[in-house]
Amino acid sequence: MMTFEDAKKIVAPEGQSISKTRSQIIVGDSREKVKDLPGDFYASCITSPPYWGKRDYGIEEQVGAEFELENYISSLVAIFREVRTKLKEDGTLWLNLGDSYTSGNRTWRAPDKKNPARKMSYRPPTPEGLKPKDLVGVPWRVAFALQEDGWYLRSDIIWYKPNCQPESVKDRPTMAHEYVFLFSKSEKYYYDYESIREPSKTNGKLRNKRTVWEVNTEPFADAHFATFPKSLIVPMIQASSREDDFILDPFFGSGTVGEVCNMLNRKFHGIEINDEYISIAQKRIKSYINGRIF
Ligand SMILES: C[S@@+](CC[C@H](N)C(=O)[O-])C[C@H]1O[C@@H](n2cnc3c(N)ncnc32)[C@H](O)[C@@H]1O
Repeated sequence: MMTFEDAKKIVAPEGQSISKTRSQIIVGDSREKVKDLPGDFYASCITSPPYWGKRDYGIEEQVGAEFELENYISSLVAIFREVRTKLKEDGTLWLNLGDSYTSGNRTWRAPDKKNPARKMSYRPPTPEGLKPKDLVGVPWRVAFALQEDGWYLRSDIIWYKPNCQPESVKDRPTMAHEYVFLFSKSEKYYYDYESIREPSKTNGKLRNKRTVWEVNTEPFADAHFATFPKSLIVPMIQASSREDDFILDPFFGSGTVGEVCNMLNRKFHGIEINDEYISIAQKRIKSYINGRIF
């Protein structure tokens, strides 16, 4: 279990090797920092990279601001290729991604007063072969690219959001879901299906968890961007790790994966490029410790 002392030392000192016994937040670009992590070590990687062209996280090296879709996909493939070497042989990757529509050749995104991080200084161009108004299919394009790169694509999970953002569209249904893909490093992998069984809607008996997960989004007061709802990631952590195992999140944001790892007695390493979000994550992890231990 994390102590207050551990929480105080949570940010890994620059230039020193990453702890193999303590949870840590690593400051920097995950494209580089993943390389410094211990190999064959993590039970699972659970993460939500920035979506393509949707939000500006205010840092030049951010993932998601690639002008061309292919460059976004190849950035992610390269990062997760490195991540794969850091997973144990029976390790898994849970990857959350949302989709977007082509810009219809508008090259800027209007400011969104309610959500300033949604403003981008540009909108990416319509990818070749697509038309204005086309759904891009980003999550599946990334999933196929990862599959081709050697990952076993084991499941697509629909995260259904009953409280999704309303959309002022009249020529298609409102988008109320995102994807979570479960990948494994090897053909056989650790997956404790019993720990996440769910009651059947017909007879209440416990059954294998289904691929549609109904979870409300949870706004997190300090963050201006989409954070993981805790209940979305609890089953991922439970199914793919044992107590004291390490979980990796290379796009740590406000640190939801860290908080849930603390709750479930797992350890974590999180990589985040934006100092502001690191402070949010630190505060969150310390307040959890304060709440539970002190
Ligand atoms: C969708 S948010 C993750 C939110 C997180 N799951 C949470 O619950 O708070 C994506 C995060 O990736 C970070 N990011 C973007 N590019 C990065 C990079 N190259 N290296 C590390 N972090 C990066 C952003 O700053 C942002 O915090």
